[in-house]
Amino acid sequence: MAENSVTLTDNRNGKSYNFPILDGNLGPSVVDISTFYKDTGMFTFDRGYTSTAMCRSQITYIDGEKGELLHRGYDIAWLAENKIFLDVVYLLLNKRLPNSDELKEFKTELKTRCFINENILKLFDAFPDRAHPMAVLQACVATLSTYYSRDMNFDDPVEYMELAKRLVAKMPTLAAFYYRHSRGYPQIYPDLDRGFTENFLYMMRSFPHSRFELRPIEVKAFDTVLMLHCDHEQNASTTTVRTVGSTHSHPYSCISAGIGALWGHAHGGANESVIRQLEMIGSVDNVDKYIAKAKDKNDPFRLMGFGHRVYKNYDPRAKVLKKMRNQLIDEIGIDSNLIKIANKIEEIVLNDDYFVSRNLYPNVDFNSGLILKALKIPTEMFAVIFVMGRCPGWISQWMELKEQDTIKIVRPRQLYVGPKDITPKN
Ligand code: CMC
Repeated sequence: MAENSVTLTDNRNGKSYNFPILDGNLGPSVVDISTFYKDTGMFTFDRGYTSTAMCRSQITYIDGEKGELLHRGYDIAWLAENKIFLDVVYLLLNKRLPNSDELKEFKTELKTRCFINENILKLFDAFPDRAHPMAVLQACVATLSTYYSRDMNFDDPVEYMELAKRLVAKMPTLAAFYYRHSRGYPQIYPDLDRGFTENFLYMMRSFPHSRFELRPIEVKAFDTVLMLHCDHEQNASTTTVRTVGSTHSHPYSCISAGIGALWGHAHGGANESVIRQLEMIGSVDNVDKYIAKAKDKNDPFRLMGFGHRVYKNYDPRAKVLKKMRNQLIDEIGIDSNLIKIANKIEEIVLNDDYFVSRNLYPNVDFNSGLILKALKIPTEMFAVIFVMGRCPGWISQWMELKEQDTIKIVRPRQLYVGPKDITPKN
């Protein structure tokens, strides 16, 4: 029997089965159960995939116990301190950081691809007033696949790198255009003299024929928010992108599905929910009441921005953002009532036995919402910002899937608990 293996015994009949253990470069070993059904005639059951590795990957590593996050081997706190969002996008897509000439060229390439076919904008008229921007973005990205589908060879790495750059470049334009449309504001086209991050804030906040100036700290804060959302291993939306990708669907259709998965408040919708919750709590005097609700087993209320499936320690992204939030408070000021409420909640959570015993720490969304609010981004656009940040991660994960020798369609099984065959037998 191989030493590097796990033996499982079926106590009903004493039969033993052997499964190999695989070791990655970091993180827990993995038991390879791909032959489990063939060998045992049984399935495994893992609701929410809490113990399942769904793929091999070289992109992102998370140590949830330590609170560590690496992108292609670089620590997120180091990247946030020393690099900009587009460095990390390049890193994810090209597997290494760019030098200064490569970064310059990459920025230019994205600029040339940031405009949208004007016909896509006609879609906006088909949506009801105040349609949620996530629904619109999901539909627009799916629609983009109709513009880039004919004659494309999705197995050619040169072509899919093109698709990747196009989508990263167009996402902010789509998002800002829909926001302005939904408010009835005049459209602001991308300004090619501005950088990627600054350009989005410019498209969101400026008006024709008026001076528009941003403080460097605003650009830095927004860039950091985007960078911190870049990739996060096999989370729900990335798994969705890989699942749709495993059927050989169009890459933009995979990303559109990822947007749908991200929208939920347990995932990317949480930053919006954090602010709405802080506003609902309204005053520091009400915090204790809501903490009690969060702890009450019979109350579905949860503190938004706390807890994580993987991190059982302080989310390293939340640490970076807390520092950035404090810098913003010093330089431009943030709604101080919300900050007071947030600080009180954080202080209680970090010391209260309910939260401590369940390893519930602030996650990335706890501070990103406060930062985005300070940057005058409307709350309904928060999850869209998450999409802009996560899009390069999704594409890199999709590209990694394509680079594999054989793609296996994702097709889990189930524990069937419905009626047995009750069809009338004639
Ligand atoms: N407030 C109060 N109790 C909580 C919270 C919370 N935010 N999160 C988890 N718990 C409790 C939960 O009730 C359970 O208690 P018990 O063991 O007594 O039943 C225990 O902690 C474990 O919770 P779980 O739901 O089994 O944990 P999970 O890993 O399935 O869920 C989570 C992770 C992020 C969905 C959850 O913590 C949550 O709903 N948090 C609030 C929403 C949020 O902030 N989401 C953003 C996640 S970070 C962004 C991203 O990467 O997508």
